[in-house]
Amino acid sequence: MVYSLDRVSVTDSLHALEWRNQHLEGLRTPWMLTEDRQRRFHADVIANPDARARYWSVKDDTGLFVALVGLNPIQWENRIAEISLVTNPERRGHGIGTAAVDLVFEHGFGQMGLSAIWGECYHCNGALGFWTKIVARYQGHSTTIPSRKMWRGVLHAATWFTIDEFGWRSVYRAKQHQS
Ligand SMILES: CC(C)(COP(=O)(O)OP(=O)(O)OC[C@H]1O[C@@H](n2cnc3c(N)ncnc32)[C@H](O)[C@@H]1OP(=O)(O)O)[C@@H](O)C(=O)NCCC(=O)NCCS
Repeated sequence: MVYSLDRVSVTDSLHALEWRNQHLEGLRTPWMLTEDRQRRFHADVIANPDARARYWSVKDDTGLFVALVGLNPIQWENRIAEISLVTNPERRGHGIGTAAVDLVFEHGFGQMGLSAIWGECYHCNGALGFWTKIVARYQGHSTTIPSRKMWRGVLHAATWFTIDEFGWRSVYRAKQHQS
């Protein structure tokens, strides 16, 4: 399956809202957002060229919306940005998350001129295994920090990870060489 980045429609935003509301343990803002709040987020951030953020819909080759991926916040002065990702829960484990990361890295490093893309994954979030594989794939760096996330009465650690443009470029070049 081939995936691509597309603009985020309001309908896509509302689908992504349902997906993100199912995984509060992975979020810095662990509360259920309403449809109204998501429409405002769409207008204020996703569709706002002046926001320090960029979001994309990931589409499969039938045009189906399968993931929302973003860079938020972008620190233009430091050429770094934090990655945000949620995939369709009914389609997990089929490579969509990895494809979304590949696409946003290609855009972030190759087009926007970022020097590093980073993220934070709480240890109460099952996605830690996913990010560990992404860090290994792109020869990134990670470190564990205690006491980052209160979830169900327990304070959990987090893994902070960063991938720089050199790690990305080596994987990108190898892929270009193969094709
Ligand atoms: C994390 C997430 C993006 C992964 O998406 P996905 O489409 O299932 O990922 P992929 O199919 O590309 O998985 C890539 C690899 O990571 C592994 N992986 C994915 N989710 C995993 C998990 N929860 N635990 C351990 N490994 C995982 C897969 O097994 C796969 O391994 P393989 O290459 O050896 O087969 C998705 O589960 C999601 O949107 N979760 C909810 C939101 C979230 O937690 N976002 C991240 C916040 S930090």
